[in-house]
Amino acid sequence: MLLLPQTNQLRALHTVIRDKNASARDFEIYSRRIIRLLLEAGLDLLPFEKREVTTPVGETYHGLEFTSRVCGVSVVRAGESMETELRDMIPGICIGKILIQRDKRTKQPELFYKHLPDDIGSSHVLLLEPMLATGGSALAALDVLRDAGVPEENVVLINFLASPTGLERVSHAAPGMQIVTSSVEDGMNEHAFMVPGIGDFGDRFFGTV
Ligand code: PRP
Ligand code: MG
Repeated sequence: MLLLPQTNQLRALHTVIRDKNASARDFEIYSRRIIRLLLEAGLDLLPFEKREVTTPVGETYHGLEFTSRVCGVSVVRAGESMETELRDMIPGICIGKILIQRDKRTKQPELFYKHLPDDIGSSHVLLLEPMLATGGSALAALDVLRDAGVPEENVVLINFLASPTGLERVSHAAPGMQIVTSSVEDGMNEHAFMVPGIGDFGDRFFGTV
């Protein structure tokens, strides 16, 4: 698991969005700044190969490019909050969707819909799932990717907030999948919400509270 460096700047961003009185606008803008950091860190975990280009002064720059195609797959609905940033960073990137909702009573994830890019099995995937509470939703989404032929080693989970038990469960069930997060929380309450937490990320980001 890669935890973003806990800089003062990152903690200040978290401070704005964890405030229950944060405006919808502030919540979106400030969480998107963190999402950008998570995506940049996640992309850095993918494999690269050498690529040379000629610079405007006629010299060779010995650079790098991704070894294979990169796709984003969001776990609807909260994961969709990360799509805009990813599309700004990599124009034309393919985005798949997996609709999973946690049953309000049992807290178990239910799969309702999936639409993945063709040939996703040969791509590397950024799996966009901001919340890792019990870890059930992330693992259910990974199962969908595995069924589509994506080895877990080719998946990087882009996560905003994680609980220690969720992280442990996911790392145990999918040791090959890499995880990037911006915060490891203290734990979960009796409603399987993380504490200190941020509330319902999807509701706050999309203004449906
Ligand atoms: C929330 C959150 C995660 C999931 C995390 O989704 O967005 O997807 O719960 O919980 P878990 O790790 O215990 O599975 P929810 O089903 O509430 O839907 P939403 O994304 O539409 O908000
Ligand atoms: Mg969700």
